[in-house]
Amino acid sequence: MLERQSDRRTALITGITGQDGSYLAELLLSKGYEVHGVVRRVALEDPSRRLGRIASLLERVHLHAASLESFPSIYQVFRTVQPDECYHLAAQSFVSYSFDDEFSTLNTNINGTHFVLAALKDIVPTCRFYFAGSSEMFGRVEEIPQTENTKFHPRSAYGISKVAGFDLTRNYREAYGIHASNGILFNHESPRRGFEFVTRKITSGLARILKGEAKELRLGNLDAKRDWGHARDYVEAMWLMLQQKDPDDYVVATGITHSVKDFIEMAFAQVGMDPDEYVVSDPDFYRPAEVQLLIGNPAKAQSKLGWRAKTDFEGLVREMVATDCRGLGVEIPAKRSAEARR
Ligand code: NAP
Ligand code: GDD
Repeated sequence: MLERQSDRRTALITGITGQDGSYLAELLLSKGYEVHGVVRRVALEDPSRRLGRIASLLERVHLHAASLESFPSIYQVFRTVQPDECYHLAAQSFVSYSFDDEFSTLNTNINGTHFVLAALKDIVPTCRFYFAGSSEMFGRVEEIPQTENTKFHPRSAYGISKVAGFDLTRNYREAYGIHASNGILFNHESPRRGFEFVTRKITSGLARILKGEAKELRLGNLDAKRDWGHARDYVEAMWLMLQQKDPDDYVVATGITHSVKDFIEMAFAQVGMDPDEYVVSDPDFYRPAEVQLLIGNPAKAQSKLGWRAKTDFEGLVREMVATDCRGLGVEIPAKRSAEARR
């Protein structure tokens, strides 16, 4: 464990083992922060499997075992760390699973957020707070594109839990004067994305087909449209929100939407293959209630935070395909990559 240095700013990240948590930890370390993370106890028992995304950071971050389901454990972490900034990213984040288990999704996501805010208010009320809100809160969208003023209409227990977290965060800001900001982040992906999310399912599935380990790729609704950016860009917006004089709510998005089908075509084009020969749309992967279209308007984040998405759709897909192919030791033939770029 590192010695605490009084001149460094201290950040606490819940969900540090996840996609965003890992990029955010890297960003904060690069800015000289002392970085602390909340992890589940089992993660410390099995670091090689559960701490994979932050494996290269383990010597430089402080990890604390706590449970989002237990207020005393969260309270204890705040008492120990006394952070200057808290990024609350931990959540049951898979929308599809929230239809199978509404109860644990609501419990973890709503109570977890409440516990973090309540501990912060009691122990370090000057600590700045970021809540990982989601475009899924817009659900059956009431206007296109979606802005900070668009009405929420969530379509899943996950979306409902995020609306509750958003409201809790705003209420702590208004009622107790906490510097608490909501990010309304649209989908963001990377080679560190979990395998069950559609983008990673496509790029890892494609790599397995190329390797000869799979013959097809079974997906659900191919017509759904998402505003996809890169997680590495989006964690910068989180940090920028907490550097503002006043707390606020911000949409973080690229402003461009693509269908799942577009993503598939772009991924298969990278390796010069025809998706129609491999992709099967399987009703088993359809959701009981779908969010059909998301497209965000990031104008406020651009003007107030000076934030911009740096990675475009093609760059994102190319990076994910290349990383998954490399991970399986699959060569992308040079001719195919060159053709794909034309
Ligand atoms: P992720 O990769 O699924 O990471 C989720 C994190 O939450 C992991 O560290 C996970 O820990 C932790 N977690 C889950 N359940 C927990 C529990 N019961 N107790 C303690 N920790 C728990 O998600 P992400 O993509 O990085 O997203 C980060 C946050 O942003 C989430 O709140 C997500 O809902 C929100 N968000 C994501 C997107 C997106 O497109 N990525 C967009 C909008 C909002 P383990 O490693 O131990 O499972
Ligand atoms: N996961 C998955 N698997 N999705 C599929 C599949 C499939 O086989 N086939 C089609 N899809 C469609 C889903 O129906 C959905 O419309 C879209 O692909 C994206 O699904 P996910 O990648 O699972 O992401 P999500 O949009 O539901 O949720 C992600 O983005 C939210 C922000 O809008 C998650 O990261 C959430 O945590 C995040 O809040």
